[in-house]
Amino acid sequence: MKTFIIGNWKCNPTTQAQAEQLFDTVEKGIKRIKSASWRNKNIEVVICPPFVWLPLISASVCAKGFGGLVFGSQDCFWEQSGTYTGEISPTMLKNLGCSYVIIGHSERRKYFNETNETVNKKLLSAFKVRLKPIFCVGEQEGEEMSLVVKNQLIEGLSGIKRTQMRNLIIAYEPVWAIGTENPCQPNEAMKAILFIKKTLSELYNRELAEEIPILYGGSLNSKNAKDYIKEAKMNGLLVGGTSLDGGEFIKIIKSV
Ligand code: 13P
Repeated sequence: MKTFIIGNWKCNPTTQAQAEQLFDTVEKGIKRIKSASWRNKNIEVVICPPFVWLPLISASVCAKGFGGLVFGSQDCFWEQSGTYTGEISPTMLKNLGCSYVIIGHSERRKYFNETNETVNKKLLSAFKVRLKPIFCVGEQEGEEMSLVVKNQLIEGLSGIKRTQMRNLIIAYEPVWAIGTENPCQPNEAMKAILFIKKTLSELYNRELAEEIPILYGGSLNSKNAKDYIKEAKMNGLLVGGTSLDGGEFIKIIKSV
């Protein structure tokens, strides 16, 4: 299975020049470390910028077209087009060259009233145009992980077929670990990941559950990243704040 290193830029940076510079640093860094073994290592680096910077990243990736670096968006709407002022559809993202879309991030649940039901509609809609969703789940401080995550999985994945599941990535991001410099330790995160696998086995089957990459996200940096991949053997990382520092993001890629 591939190892995914995904950078979620969130609502940053605020100018095109800064976005270009950040992307340039990442692109050059990857080229430098890209050796003959890169492909064998099977690492996929995904950059998820705000919608407005997607076209410039799309132009750069498509023009240079080197493997191992692709891009995605941080959200999408559930309809493909129509009278929905302000929304961005999965079809638009697909036509721009996006491969992935983050769906159900806790910040969208918190600030934009996203529910398991809207998350489910967005997942179904992304699958329709073959965008690969990065489906975020995780509990808030004081909540029982198993109760919250099980519900997010059952309701979020309602009606999603086995064939579609093969294009899904799940990210376990405990809300209390996001942007706090207080990451969930690899052994604890691994317990949540095993719980997600168990729930997927119950909802689908064991073989399928084993095929779905499950990533960790929350206060990752260039020092702690490798512990999740090399020791805890996770399938990848969803990096927030550290992905805004090109040099540090490259260090994370190198470390794993
Ligand atoms: P931080 O890495 O800033 O904690 O954010 C994690 C996250 O929310 C990625 O989606």
